Amino acid sequence: MTGIGLVGTGYWGKNHARNWREMLKEGIIDDLVFCDLDEGRVKELAGDDIRWTTDYKEILADPSIDAVDIVTPSNTHYPLGLMAISVGKDVFVEKPLTMSSDEAKKLVQAAEENGRILMVGHLFRYHPGIAKIREMIKNGDFGKIYYMYTNRMAYSVPRPDMGVMYALGVHELDLYCYLLGVDYPNVAKITKGSFLQPGIEEFSSILMEFDDNVSGYAIESWISPFDKKIRTFTIIGSEMSAKVDYMKHDSIETFDGRILTSADNGHSTPVVSGGSVSELYFPAKEPLREELLDYVNCIKTRKQPLADMYCGKRAVRMVESCLEKGYFEP
Ligand SMILES: NC(=O)c1ccc[n+]([C@@H]2O[C@H](COP(=O)([O-])OP(=O)(O)OC[C@H]3O[C@@H](n4cnc5c(N)ncnc54)[C@H](O)[C@@H]3O)[C@@H](O)[C@H]2O)c1
Repeated sequence: MTGIGLVGTGYWGKNHARNWREMLKEGIIDDLVFCDLDEGRVKELAGDDIRWTTDYKEILADPSIDAVDIVTPSNTHYPLGLMAISVGKDVFVEKPLTMSSDEAKKLVQAAEENGRILMVGHLFRYHPGIAKIREMIKNGDFGKIYYMYTNRMAYSVPRPDMGVMYALGVHELDLYCYLLGVDYPNVAKITKGSFLQPGIEEFSSILMEFDDNVSGYAIESWISPFDKKIRTFTIIGSEMSAKVDYMKHDSIETFDGRILTSADNGHSTPVVSGGSVSELYFPAKEPLREELLDYVNCIKTRKQPLADMYCGKRAVRMVESCLEKGYFEP
C-alpha cells in the first residue's frame, strides 16, 4: 500500500497533482491527499475525488500516507522535509533540495539516520532525450566529447525567492556530472547579472571543466525577450553531435558532421565531412511521470532513486559556492 501526500499545489505542484491523480486511477498508488495553505487552490484542484487539507501536520499524522511530495517554495523544503523524515515518511522534494549546503547536509543525515528515502526533483535526469544521450555517451557514439551547452531562456516574471542559479543552473550543474559519470566538475565558474531585484540574479552563465578537456556551458536567463521559452541541450563530439529540445519528449536531433584534421585525412588543412541533421525518434515519456514513478518504485523497493539525495546535496553545494565566490572547486 502506498499513500502519497502532495504538499504545494501551485504552478509546478499542479503538474505533480495531475500525475498523482492518474497514478491513483491506474492503481500505481493506493491513497492520495493534497495539501496547500491556499484553501481555494487546493480545494479546486482536489475536486470531488481527492482528499485535501490546508494543514501539513494532518498529512504527517495520517497513517495511510507513507510518503510526501513537497512542491512548496524552496526555502520551505528543509523544514517541511525534516518534519516528514522525523515522523517516518519518505520524502520527495522539488529542486533545489535546500537553499544552503548546511541544510542539505542535515537533511541527508536525517534521512540516513531514519532509513528514509529522500529524493530531489532533478527532472532532467528523467528526460527521455537525456536518457538517449546518456546511452549514446556510454556507447561511445560521440567519439571524443568536446563540449556541451545549454540554453534556458525565457521572458518571465523573475521568482522573488531565488535567482536563476538555484532555479535553473542547479539542473546543469547536476546534469553534466550525471552525463559524464562524475560527482563534480574539476571546476565550475559563473558570471551573473542582477537587474530587477537586489541580490537575485536574473541572468547567469556557467562554465564547467572536466577531465580530458571536456567542458560544459550554460546560459540561464529569465529576461531574454526575443525568444519564446528556449530549453535546449547540445553535445558536440569528434564523431557526431546531438541536440535535445527539452520541450520534445519523443525525439532528439543528431548531426553527423565531423571536422577531419590533417592527421585523419592526410590533407594539409582540416576539412568538414558530412553534416546532415536527422531526427532520432523514441517512445515519448513525460519526464515528471518518470520521476514520480521512480519515487514510488523506491518507496516500495527501498532502492535509491536516480535523482537521489546525494546528487541534490552536491548540486546545492556547487550553487552555493558559485554564488558566494563565483566558482566551485571540489
Ligand atoms: N523541477 C522543475 O522543473 C521545477 C519547475 C518549477 C518549479 N520547481 C520547484 O517547485 C517548487 C514550487 O514552485 P512553484 O513555482 O510551484 O511555486 P508556487 O509559489 O506557484 O507554489 C507553491 C505552493 O506551495 C504552497 N505552500 C507554501 N507553504 C506551504 C505549506 N507549509 N504547506 C502547504 N502548502 C504550502 C503555496 O500556498 C503555493 O500554492 C520550487 O521549489 C521550485 O523550485 C521545480
